[in-house]
Amino acid sequence: MDSRSWLLLEPDPPEHRLPDDLRARDGLGGRDCGWVAQMRPFVRHFSRPGETVFDPFCGFATTLLAAALEDRRGCGVEIDPERAALGRERLARHGVDAPIATGSLPDTPAPRAYSLCLTNVPYFGCRWPGRDEAGQLYLERDYAAYLQRVRDIFHAVREALPQGGYCIAMAENLIVGDRMLPLAWDLGRVLGNLFVAREERLLCYARPPQPRAPGDPRSDRSHEYALVFQKQPETICLQSTCDELDAMRAAGFGYTLHGSFAHWLAHGEEALKRPPADADLLLDDGDPEALDRLLHWLHERHYELSLWGEPVRPPLRLERWAEHWYLRAQRRDRLGRLVRLDLGLASRHAQLPPVPLQRDG
Ligand SMILES: C[S@@+](CC[C@H](N)C(=O)[O-])C[C@H]1O[C@@H](n2cnc3c(N)ncnc32)[C@H](O)[C@@H]1O
Repeated sequence: MDSRSWLLLEPDPPEHRLPDDLRARDGLGGRDCGWVAQMRPFVRHFSRPGETVFDPFCGFATTLLAAALEDRRGCGVEIDPERAALGRERLARHGVDAPIATGSLPDTPAPRAYSLCLTNVPYFGCRWPGRDEAGQLYLERDYAAYLQRVRDIFHAVREALPQGGYCIAMAENLIVGDRMLPLAWDLGRVLGNLFVAREERLLCYARPPQPRAPGDPRSDRSHEYALVFQKQPETICLQSTCDELDAMRAAGFGYTLHGSFAHWLAHGEEALKRPPADADLLLDDGDPEALDRLLHWLHERHYELSLWGEPVRPPLRLERWAEHWYLRAQRRDRLGRLVRLDLGLASRHAQLPPVPLQRDG
């Protein structure tokens, strides 16, 4: 019943709410505390009893309490020491043993191995009256820097999540100044570069509308999106990738292939544990103009270009490309077939082992 694409949530019963005395000790009065009822369906649907649920922004430990009520283990990371202490005290009152580490990913790892990451992201633009901890996302002044930090944190989440595990993040779009800032959609894009997107659910909170304080970036706080992602290797369409590589060669762009796609071309499917997730290309960066032409060519063929998940468009400074291991160019057709080319610069990859194969046009 509660696995529909929208959920109408009732406020938590008093015994699950953040106790008034803990709320009173918080700088924001617990305004950003979520509901246990918001988390429970996701714990049930995306983990099994006995598994561990991790919240990288665990605040008052609502997710960890929801995990315990569903017979899962929990653990969290929270950057604000006072919040972390409130979360621990709340759990102790419920007799729940779920460690909360004070700090932030990636420097502070999850205190337990986990199979589900479930969280409410800290909203950009929140007026945070608490401590000025370095890395506190509530204090980030710049939206692009905020998204970059969020990306780094979820990158660390992915590193520790086993294959097949889910990462679920909740957020809504914001109002900043006189315009909407599409935080939920940008978060979807950031996570979509790290995980496979599975579904969205709309959470509707049945509560009286909360008056919006001037400058409050949230709406009347009666809805959020739950964005459901899974750690799974994406597989590219091998035939479409070969066709694209041939087209690239025919358009006059040279490259050398390496990595799993080259291996597949040379030895066939049996040689790989799983199908390639991308095609790794090395490009000669002795001719910046040719690289610029290639980026325009890819752009005109409707490839999405990105550096570590951040979209880019030509022209692109070669130094910026060289700062990254590769530039990703990917496109998906209406049958869902994915072509993903990771374009590395030969001078940057000089330390790679000998390239096993050249693909001739
Ligand atoms: C929306 S609140 C989480 C509330 C939590 N879902 C609950 O209901 O108990 C977001 C939390 O993220 C914390 N936070 C902000 N930046 C962080 C970072 N870089 N690493 C870890 N926690 C962070 C904030 O201090 C805040 O407590």
